[in-house]
Amino acid sequence: MHLRNTILAGLLGLASSVESKIVQTNTGTFQGGKCSLTDVNYFFSIPYAKPPVGERRFAPPEPLSNSSSKVVNATAPAPSCLQFSGGLFDETNTQSEDCLFLNVYVPATPSPKLPVKVWLYGGSNAAGGISDAIYNGCFSAQDSIIVTVNYRVGPLGFLALEDLGLTGNYGIQDQLLALRWVNENIAEFGGDPQKVLLFGESAGAIDTFVLSTLPEVSQLVRAVAMESGAGRDLATLADSKVWYTEFLNAMNCTTPDLSCLRTASPSAIKAAAKAMPTPKVTVVNTALANNGTRSAWTPILDGTVIKAQPSTIGVRIPAIIGSNAAEGALFVLTTYGAATLHNALTQAQYDAFLTYNFGPLATRVNETYSATRAFNGSVLAAMTEITTDVSYRCPSYRALVQAEKNSVPVWSYRFSHVPSCSWYTGLQAAWIPYLGATHTTEIPFVFNFTANMPPPDGNCTFTPAEQTLAHDMSRAWTNMAELGRPGEQTVWPEWRSNGSVGVVMDGAMVPGVVDYSTCGFWDTVNSELNEYWNTRG
Ligand SMILES: *[C@@H]1O[C@H](CO)[C@@H](O)[C@H](O)[C@H]1NC(C)=O
Ligand SMILES: *[C@@H]1O[C@H](CO)[C@@H](O)[C@H](O)[C@H]1NC(C)=O
Ligand SMILES: *[C@@H]1O[C@H](CO)[C@@H](O)[C@H](O)[C@H]1NC(C)=O
Ligand SMILES: *[C@@H]1O[C@H](CO)[C@@H](O)[C@H](O)[C@H]1NC(C)=O
Ligand SMILES: *[C@@H]1O[C@H](CO)[C@@H](O)[C@H](O)[C@H]1NC(C)=O
Ligand SMILES: *[C@@H]1O[C@H](CO)[C@@H](O)[C@H](O)[C@H]1NC(C)=O
Ligand SMILES: *[C@@H]1O[C@H](CO)[C@@H](O)[C@H](O)[C@H]1NC(C)=O
Ligand SMILES: *[C@@H]1O[C@H](CO)[C@@H](O)[C@H](O)[C@H]1NC(C)=O
Ligand SMILES: *[C@@H]1O[C@H](CO)[C@@H](O)[C@H](O)[C@H]1NC(C)=O
Repeated sequence: MHLRNTILAGLLGLASSVESKIVQTNTGTFQGGKCSLTDVNYFFSIPYAKPPVGERRFAPPEPLSNSSSKVVNATAPAPSCLQFSGGLFDETNTQSEDCLFLNVYVPATPSPKLPVKVWLYGGSNAAGGISDAIYNGCFSAQDSIIVTVNYRVGPLGFLALEDLGLTGNYGIQDQLLALRWVNENIAEFGGDPQKVLLFGESAGAIDTFVLSTLPEVSQLVRAVAMESGAGRDLATLADSKVWYTEFLNAMNCTTPDLSCLRTASPSAIKAAAKAMPTPKVTVVNTALANNGTRSAWTPILDGTVIKAQPSTIGVRIPAIIGSNAAEGALFVLTTYGAATLHNALTQAQYDAFLTYNFGPLATRVNETYSATRAFNGSVLAAMTEITTDVSYRCPSYRALVQAEKNSVPVWSYRFSHVPSCSWYTGLQAAWIPYLGATHTTEIPFVFNFTANMPPPDGNCTFTPAEQTLAHDMSRAWTNMAELGRPGEQTVWPEWRSNGSVGVVMDGAMVPGVVDYSTCGFWDTVNSELNEYWNTRG
């Protein structure tokens, strides 16, 4: 997600300050700055790994040790890792392969044993970065410490090719190393390493879900919150071969010449990623998508870092698992363009979408989700609903069910509020009423980011009711870090399959039923397509 650089500094609300703290960590000594609008200090661009370049490209991150007491100026925003989404979701600030940095935001009035919230951004595991203005921690680090983490995306984060000995998941290992950094260093900032929440949205939630199923993560993290991305099945190393071989071909490299990949220039890697086949339809999360990888760049079952299917293991620590009412609209818009908004999508486009994503089950899905009968002829509405259910709502439901089986406490939400400000420059304010509570809509609320919002002028302000909702949501996430639960049972009931209670966030955050009634159908479709993929000729 990007913002025009000219307004970036203003939106961040930053100012350098002489009173800023100096903090010594095991990767260096850093002098931060002070947020201009809130009583919060920030420390930018703290390295947590050796630069992942040269021989360290397509390899696990290596820990960095630097006990130097020479003070480093930590007020300049970090570069983003190289971006690969090829469009709306790419960050537009400086990009660098040397990008394994994190930002820390701390209440300026110190208080010991603060809860800590560690953020993983979204961007399809192909884009995203901590310098994006929407992930500014200045507004939410008033009751807790916020840490935001850069991790490698696209081929640099996830390329897996068994024939080259590449097992992928570098981005996941970056996140793990960052969590170790937090565990070892956050006390120096006043944080309590026993009170760490890991939270993420979209790919950040997909990755958080994966991490929450690994035994070692329960030593580092007390709880997780997954916004729109929990519960998905992962492809295996073998499944990903066809897709990732396309990338090798696009690089003009061959097996077993790994140095061809390691010595290629960043621009060649970007060009090759761009040359990968791009489906002309909105891709949803089925076993057929992207020739079996499901998502183009993605964590996979590599047998080492991720030994077992996360959706089968389930979360091991307390979790918030939720999604938005109209997740799919943003993806339909980015695939088919603004014509989407004039409801100009055709049945032929719908048929292509169904055939690509559901193969042998396209007809069955077409019957249950008939654009004419169920959606009054609106292909936009039908595609939005299917994308919402298949990629977000129903994987979340499966994650909730598995957590209940594991006797791990879980809380669910449905976010249905349509914001009065856009939160994202690429998103024209005029589109928002058509898109509804689409993917990413809840992010500014979780970040308590309610004033000086991006488009069109960087000065839109949420209504008082929206400010209350933002306060309640960011506070619930802090409670998760501090107490291991988002609130009292009367405010936010624990989810159980027998009643499906949780909270519904619209005008306000209120207890209610979170509706997963469509998920019986989609569970069957998901299992049948997994079976079909695994037994294909
Ligand atoms: C350690 O930090 C110092 C102070 O910034 C820097 O000069 C030195 O290059 C760093 N060493 C490593 C190995 O990063
Ligand atoms: C630190 O870097 C910022 C730019 O990010 C600069 O404006 C400031 O003067 C520097 N501070 C010191 C003490 O060098
Ligand atoms: C959200 O921001 C408002 C305005 O800065 C502040 O009063 C409130 O305490 C913040 N809430 C949380 C939970 O950080
Ligand atoms: C691979 O070779 C093709 C054909 O020569 C060329 O167009 C393309 O730019 C090359 N790709 C890279 C990443 O070098
Ligand atoms: C799937 O792989 C085949 C070759 O095996 C290729 O022709 C096709 O373009 C791929 N489709 C996608 C969506 O990647
Ligand atoms: C979906 O149903 C419509 C009729 O409502 C039909 O025209 C279309 O061919 C069907 N598409 C698929 C993929 O089955
Ligand atoms: C269905 O569409 C027709 C015309 O396109 C419109 O008059 C009607 O209100 C719509 N019904 C619903 C339930 O949206
Ligand atoms: C935002 O500020 C610009 C000038 O910078 C002004 O023209 C515009 O009216 C303002 N918009 C709002 C919603 O206050
Ligand atoms: C659901 O089950 C729990 C025990 O697992 C029980 O306490 C609760 O009353 C049940 N709720 C409903 C609505 O049946």
